[in-house]
Amino acid sequence: SLGGTMAEPKATSTAEPLLLNAVRGVDVERPPVWLMRQAGRYMKAVFLGFLVSYQIICEKYPSFRERSENVDLVVEISLQPWKVFKPDGVILFSDILTPLSGMNIPFDIVKGKGPVIFDPLHTAVDVDQVREFSPEESVPYVGEALKILRKEVDREAALLGFVGAPFTLASYVVEGGSSKHFSKIKRLAFSQPNILHALLQKFTTSMAKYIQYQADCGAQAVQIFDSWATELSPVDFEEFSLPYLKQIVDIVKQTHPNLPLILYASGSGGLLERLPLTGVDVVSLDWTVDMAEGRRRLGPNIAVQGNIDPGVLFGSKDFITNRIKDTVRKAGKVKHILNLGHGIVVGTPEENVAHFFEVAKGLRY
Ligand code: CP3
Repeated sequence: SLGGTMAEPKATSTAEPLLLNAVRGVDVERPPVWLMRQAGRYMKAVFLGFLVSYQIICEKYPSFRERSENVDLVVEISLQPWKVFKPDGVILFSDILTPLSGMNIPFDIVKGKGPVIFDPLHTAVDVDQVREFSPEESVPYVGEALKILRKEVDREAALLGFVGAPFTLASYVVEGGSSKHFSKIKRLAFSQPNILHALLQKFTTSMAKYIQYQADCGAQAVQIFDSWATELSPVDFEEFSLPYLKQIVDIVKQTHPNLPLILYASGSGGLLERLPLTGVDVVSLDWTVDMAEGRRRLGPNIAVQGNIDPGVLFGSKDFITNRIKDTVRKAGKVKHILNLGHGIVVGTPEENVAHFFEVAKGLRY
């Protein structure tokens, strides 16, 4: 039953982390749980005999690129939520834009503004100048950090890597940053599609390589973020996103057939039946889809992740508890990873995050 009784944390005796077993459809005693953006700005200070604060690291290292491109800082920040909440997945602290400088696309992430691409790409010549990504050369700190993290986390949790999906990366580099209407990338898509296709192909090959690199360095599952794919109508998704996602999955499965791949697209309710066509192992749902309906529409062969509204973490503890139980009941006993429907919001009370993990880890099917 889903009584939500608090159980003593059990020493893991299984050879595989809970999250990997759940994805593979092995019987598990509860759903594994982690939270998107579990490392980051909501973490002010948690005292556990030691101080764990992302915000203090930010004061000392104000540049996001420095924090995310220095092995020691990446390891430390990735481990902060692990030390405090013991999630079943530990995600690398990095960004989907991290590969861009290695592809000859200079960028920064500016406080209060978000991602900035200094020279947005618009023409065939711009796209020609994009270099294929070589992770060993361009982001060796990612590989080093993953190797250290894998040792630190050992078998108690799954180490998660991630990449941006081709369309989402293209939207940043064409728009020049975050966007409201996506008019620049749509102008390209709907007037000079060949230029966009050339760019998408470069991101596809590059991100497939990046996933392989992350897996070789210790990532045990990799999440692909296609955050903005749902800005596309379904026919356009079928042209500008789906084939590239499928290609990434095909390339990675050739070398890493057992590496679980998770696909996240926010607001994907209108595309749900199409997402499994990519070949991914897990679809990560946002909260605009009811978990039970999402399950039905995705079919039984695919695992599902999600899908609690990050805003629930601003609610009362009882509300949080009830929403967790409701989501877990609707997801069923197999192939579910409990998570939010998008990243944790800045300002989320840390005690509510702690409560979320406590309840989730105390559940028993
Ligand atoms: O989940 C985790 O804890 C891992 C870390 C992670 C970050 N970015 C760190 C980060 C992950 C998985 C991402 C992915 C990412 N980055 C996505 C896909 C997920 C999604 O939200 O849909 C996207 C679209 C980006 C691009 C990006 N990077 C945005 C929109 C921002 C926010 C800008 C802002 O200032 O609000 C970033 C910066 C960023 N990446 C932050 C963090 C913790 C916040 C800036 C900071 O900490 O200084």
